Amino acid sequence: AFAVLVPQDLDGVRVVISAGGTREPIDPVRYLGNRSSGRQGVALAAEAAARGASVTLVAANIAQDVLAAASGVRVVPVATARELQDAMADAAPTADVIIMAAAVADYRPATVSTSKLTKEDGVLERIDLLENDDVVAGLAAARVPGQTIVAFAAETDPDAAARRDRARRKRERKGVDLLAVNLANEEHGFEKADNAVEIIGQEGAVVGEAAGAKRVVAAAILDAVVGLRASR
Ligand code: CTP
Ligand code: CA
Repeated sequence: AFAVLVPQDLDGVRVVISAGGTREPIDPVRYLGNRSSGRQGVALAAEAAARGASVTLVAANIAQDVLAAASGVRVVPVATARELQDAMADAAPTADVIIMAAAVADYRPATVSTSKLTKEDGVLERIDLLENDDVVAGLAAARVPGQTIVAFAAETDPDAAARRDRARRKRERKGVDLLAVNLANEEHGFEKADNAVEIIGQEGAVVGEAAGAKRVVAAAILDAVVGLRASR
């Protein structure tokens, strides 16, 4: 009975979603990571599939119990930012909609030790880093005509207006159609069941907002995608 209530407004639409958080190796047993669980991206994948989309989920280090919610979705597992970039580059040319929900490491260690770093070799004083490519900006630059591209931004500024201004600049800089800004704090965001987002569109307009379960937030983001596709 529930299934018939879900609008089939993404019927046949090819949606590629990245989710989770990349891990950048330091040595065989250590990495630089982040707190993304992948829940928001998995909720997007599940919601898009329920609405009739054909979904590919590029999953960066998502726990099996979280991933289980993405039924009927093709999953491509990746670990590092560069693996995620390659998987997205493979999937993007045939996508109608790309949603970059993954928390991609901004930097990676410049060298990866092939053996475990040990204090017997001396105390480690620093880890040199290299900047990773901006994956979504690259996908936007190589955009196929008609493709809709969505990025996320986790912002911690408690001031809503300042957060929105940063988000507007970020959307412009990355060349994406929509940017979902979420407030990462104690109640919302990373590792939390609930999320709160504001969706920024063309000219910086606020084209949607949602707060609550990640599936509810996912529905609002897909509503904005459907609205944008219908307007073109
Ligand atoms: N992103 C990406 N490639 C990166 C870093 C981020 O594709 N190397 C994507 C994320 O998946 C997200 C969006 O860019 O959709 C925004 O990420 P965010 O970390 O907020 O943006 P940055 O440009 O890295 O800015 P900041 O310095 O605020 O971290
Ligand atoms: Ca970043």
